[in-house]
Amino acid sequence: MAKEFPENFLWGGATAANQCEGAYLTNGKGLSTADVMTAGVHGVPREITDGVVEDKYYPSHNAVDHYRLFKEDIALFAEMGFKCYRMSIAWSRIFPNGDEEVPKEEGLKHYDEVFDTCLQYGIEPLVTISHFETPLGLLKYGSWENREVIDFYIRYCETIFNRYKGKVKYWLTFNEINVMSTKPWMAGGINSDDEQTRMTAAYHQFLASAKAVQMAHEIDPNNKVGMMYAGHIAYPASCDPEDMQAIVDFMHKMLFYCDVQCRGYYPAYKLKEFEREGIVLPIQDGDLQELMKGKVDFLSYSYYLTHVVGKDTNLDFKGLNGVKTGYKNPYLQTSDWGWAIDPKGLRYSLNLLYDRYQIPLMIVENGLGAVDKVEEDGSIHDSYRIDYLRDHLREMKKAIDIDGVPVMGYTMWGPMDIIAASTGEMKKRYGFIYVDIDDNGNGTFRRIKKDSFYWYKKVIESNGENL
Ligand code: BG6
Repeated sequence: MAKEFPENFLWGGATAANQCEGAYLTNGKGLSTADVMTAGVHGVPREITDGVVEDKYYPSHNAVDHYRLFKEDIALFAEMGFKCYRMSIAWSRIFPNGDEEVPKEEGLKHYDEVFDTCLQYGIEPLVTISHFETPLGLLKYGSWENREVIDFYIRYCETIFNRYKGKVKYWLTFNEINVMSTKPWMAGGINSDDEQTRMTAAYHQFLASAKAVQMAHEIDPNNKVGMMYAGHIAYPASCDPEDMQAIVDFMHKMLFYCDVQCRGYYPAYKLKEFEREGIVLPIQDGDLQELMKGKVDFLSYSYYLTHVVGKDTNLDFKGLNGVKTGYKNPYLQTSDWGWAIDPKGLRYSLNLLYDRYQIPLMIVENGLGAVDKVEEDGSIHDSYRIDYLRDHLREMKKAIDIDGVPVMGYTMWGPMDIIAASTGEMKKRYGFIYVDIDDNGNGTFRRIKKDSFYWYKKVIESNGENL
C-alpha cells in the first residue's frame, strides 16, 4: 500500500450556507435563489417559485440551524481532528439584495465568529464565495446574464477579502461553475434553456472570477484562489470509435469551464461550437487579457460518481444533477439515489485533470448520500458510508503516491447531515454527524455521532494511514 498522505494535508468537511445555515431572514439577510426552491424527492425536481409562497415548504429557510449551532458543529469537527472546513458565505447576508453600496455589519460579524471559532481549533477555513445562491434582488438585472452583476460580485469580494484578511486564505470563486450547463438556476439565477443565455452568464462568471483572483492576490499575496468543478467524468459505452467520440464531445461540454479558468482562454473546440451554433460572447476590450491574468491557483472539484456516454443518445438514464448520459455502468453499484459508486474513477479523474492543467488539485466534495437508521440505543451504524469513503481515500492515495498528483486536501461533503441540493431532502444524509430532523423540517435538531465519526477521527489522526 502507498505511503502516508502529504504533511499538512487539508483533511476536513464541506458545506454550503443555504443547505445548513437556515435563519434565512435573520439579521437582515435577503432572499437568495436557494430560498425560493421547494423540496422535491428523488425523481421529482424541486420547484422554483416566484418569491416565497405561503404553505410551501422551503428547506433552506431553517435547514439544520447551523447559523445558530455553528459553534457546536465546529467543536465536533475539531473533535474529529479537522484541519480544514470548507463552507460558503451567504452573499445575501452581506448584501441582502446584492446591489447595495454598503455591506451589512451583522452578516460580516457572523462570519468573523465562524472563522474565529475555526481558527481557535486550528481549522483552516476554505470559503466558497458563491455556492448555489445568488441574491434574489439581482434578478431584476437579469442575474448573471447582465454584465453589471460582475460589479456587484466584485464589491462583495472586495468586502470579504478585506474583512477576513489574515483569517481566510483559501477561496473558491463559484461552486461547480459548470452547473451553468445543467442547472443554471442553481449556478447563477438563470431560469432558461437557451444556450446563448447560459453561455453569456458563464462568460460573466468567468470574468468575475478572473477579477476576483487578481483582487484576492493584491489584497493579500497569501491568498490562494481556486475554481470549483462539478466532477463530471465519463467512460465510453464501448470501444466503438463513435462511442469514444461521444466521450470527447461530452467532456468538452464540461471541461471547457476548467480550460477557461485554469488556462485563461476559451479552447478552440468551444469557439468552433459557438460559431456553428451562432452563439456570440459579449466580449469587451480588455476582457480576454483579464481572463488570462485571472487564472486560478488551484483546481478543486466534487467527486461522487462517473458517467457512461456513447453514440446512442435516446436512452433516458440520468446521472448527477440531471445530466443525461444514457447508460448504466454494469461494473458499478449505485447509491439509493442512482449515483454510480466508482472509487477507481477518482484516481482516474485526478490523473485526467492533473495531466491537463498541471496545477494543484483538491477534492472538496465526496461522500455517500444514504438513509441512516437510529438504533434504539441512539447509535447509528453507517458501515456503508465508511466503506464508500475508505475506498475513495485508497484510490486518492494511489493518485498521490503512485501517479504523483499534488492533492492539497480532501473535504468530505456534509460532515453533519444537511439539506440535499438536488432534491431538497433531508433523508439523503452524508454526515458523520446525524441531525435529528426529517424531510419536513420537523425534529429536535440534535446532533448524534455516527460510527463514521469515530472512523474519520482515526483517519485524520493517522494522516490517512489508518483507513
Ligand atoms: C454538489 C453540490 O453538486 O453535490 C452540493 O456542490 C451538493 O451543494 C452535493 O449538496 C451533493 O448533492 P446532493 O443533491 O446529494 O445534495
